[in-house]
Amino acid sequence: MNATARELVASFDLEKLVPEFYADPYPTYRALREHEPVKLLPNGSYFLTRYDDLVGIYKNTKLFSSDKKREFAPKYGDSLLYEHHTTSLVFNDPPAHTRVRRLIMGALSPRAIAEMEPDLVALVDRLLDTLAAKGDVELIGDFASAIPIQVIGNLLDVPMPEREPLRDWSLAILGALEPVIGADVFARGNRAVKDFLAYLEILVERRRARPGNPDRDVLTRLIAGEDSGERLTAKELLHNCIFLLNAGHETTTNLIGNGLVALSHHPAEKRRLIGNPDLAKTAVEEVLRFESSNQLGNRMTTERVDLGGIAMAAGTPLTLCIGAANRDPRQFADPERLDIGRTPNRHLAFATGAHQCAGMALARLEGAIAISRFLARFPDYRLNGTPVRGGRVRFRGFLSVPCAVG
Ligand code: HEM
Repeated sequence: MNATARELVASFDLEKLVPEFYADPYPTYRALREHEPVKLLPNGSYFLTRYDDLVGIYKNTKLFSSDKKREFAPKYGDSLLYEHHTTSLVFNDPPAHTRVRRLIMGALSPRAIAEMEPDLVALVDRLLDTLAAKGDVELIGDFASAIPIQVIGNLLDVPMPEREPLRDWSLAILGALEPVIGADVFARGNRAVKDFLAYLEILVERRRARPGNPDRDVLTRLIAGEDSGERLTAKELLHNCIFLLNAGHETTTNLIGNGLVALSHHPAEKRRLIGNPDLAKTAVEEVLRFESSNQLGNRMTTERVDLGGIAMAAGTPLTLCIGAANRDPRQFADPERLDIGRTPNRHLAFATGAHQCAGMALARLEGAIAISRFLARFPDYRLNGTPVRGGRVRFRGFLSVPCAVG
């Protein structure tokens, strides 16, 4: 191990990250994967970076739990943030998870998603017209973030004039999931859950009184439940609607933003995609692998287990580093290279196993339409300022990206 790698591995602490790490975490991830793929952190948790280890953990819900009731208790206390996160399907194990997931998957059916495509194309084209009129634009606020918020607004059929607060609520709730949070982030997160719940209660009441089209409106589907009689409780319904917005918002914004920035840094790949628009699907997969929007996942051991030769007690928290696994050379040839035609590309950006992203078909559709239509309209776009990173380790993306499209 060379001195730099040794230093990166020795000093790595998820709770004490430095600005260079946020700018480019991949040298650290590589050093960890090569030299200490199951790394004990000062807080007693383990940080895992190998592809095969992650797949094994994701696929075993019995040994590796997603239930966060115990872990979140000291962090959130008896708060709305605690109620929200511990009611979301992503932080539950079977059988509670299986029930809620079945209902959500039913509502996000391939048919429901196919129904969204024409509206999505129209939305993207409207945004592109606005960008063209401006010339100098900000890629995240003016484009990338506007797409998922409207898509999920459409999914739950939130009236247009009521969509404004959705983005800030979502950012505030997700911000509170960072490994270390201050009192202000905690307070903002709780306030956002409170306001969001109050709003959703009104929306659900209205929808119960006047159901929408169940083929297009996920909220109507979730209220109605399954033909078998399976229903969400009132609390499950509200918190999982909040979760849907959160799960689909920042992640997809980052997919679109990361894609456009990565392509502008790789002009040959950008030209290749412009010349071969049929590569849009593999290009989206490659952006998901190369700059995964969601870089970290978490599990907790339920029994004594052995991982990478290390014996762990039951109740040991694990952080699964998707960003590192997606550049594991044992799974991906030449992993540090952006190759928009890469096949196969079995990345873990959407995880795998029982909790694999329930919205991945929608995210892929949004990514492909947004990126390919942007490139077709503005093949000569160029960044004309310094992109500002979100400064988060879990959700990797940009807060703002100045860009000229004229
Ligand atoms: C690029 C965009 C997206 C990425 C990278 C992403 C990533 C992920 C990942 C990694 C998980 C697994 C979390 C875990 O178990 O540790 C997940 C779960 C989930 N995602 Fe996504 N997601 C994206 C977009 C979306 C969208 C658009 C929606 C819905 C509108 C969505 C809904 C969900 C839901 C409901 C789950 C929980 C599934 C379960 O626990 O069974 N996601 N996502």
